[in-house]
Amino acid sequence: MKNLRVINLKKVYGRGESEVRAIDGISLEIQPNKFTAIIGKSGSGKSTLLHCMAGLDKPTSGKVFIDDLDLYTLNDDKLSKLRSEEFGFIFQSYNLISVINVYDNIVLPISLSGGKVDKKYIDDLIEKLGIKSQIKKFPNELSGGQQQRVAIARALANKPSIIFADEPTGNLDSKTTNEVMNLLKFCIEEYKQTLVMITHNDEIASSADNTINISDGKVI
Ligand SMILES: Nc1ncnc2c1ncn2[C@@H]1O[C@H](COP(=O)(O)OP(=O)(O)OP(=O)(O)O)[C@@H](O)[C@H]1O
Ligand SMILES: [Mg+2]
Repeated sequence: MKNLRVINLKKVYGRGESEVRAIDGISLEIQPNKFTAIIGKSGSGKSTLLHCMAGLDKPTSGKVFIDDLDLYTLNDDKLSKLRSEEFGFIFQSYNLISVINVYDNIVLPISLSGGKVDKKYIDDLIEKLGIKSQIKKFPNELSGGQQQRVAIARALANKPSIIFADEPTGNLDSKTTNEVMNLLKFCIEEYKQTLVMITHNDEIASSADNTINISDGKVI
């Protein structure tokens, strides 16, 4: 389990008249092994915050700590190593690679980072996510919900401590949304993970352990 802390984070895009303070002084702590939902209007800064917390986008100022490690003091290689070892990412678009099959999509990030694939764990994950009969198929042969489950398996394949998700159910119908959410909640229990998820879905947000409400780049 890893502790994630953000101290006086700011992210400014552009300058002068076109300046946008996407994140305007946010400090927070994410509770380990819990589900934290990030909510707020479109353009309020949710994705920017998530990307800064996840080491994907360098803040203009402020700090992000993973335990005692100051994320943005790391060089690019160390930062991407940390991301591939400790973090999992799920986005609204599944970003699966169309020319390789489902199984290869799931283990690709591990192979790319030179890690060792824990076959038993991956098989277990595939079983639990209900995609066992699809692993030889190609992404375009799957439904949206199935593709998102593959994307979840890919995000969990490296046994991340923290899963960052940006509206992962945004393109799914309500039944599939429920299934995907139940699977994610099951996984964080089963594998002692932390889930940080942006959502516009009130029902999902109210099922979270904690909620962070963002408005104009600030926590309200
Ligand atoms: N690369 C960028 N360059 C310039 N401005 C940006 C960039 N990325 C985001 N912004 C601006 O920063 C603000 C916050 O954007 P962000 O994507 O974080 O919002 P959001 O809360 O995720 O919105 P949504 O719910 O629509 O996804 C917006 O005003 C946006 O226009
Ligand atoms: Mg967004």
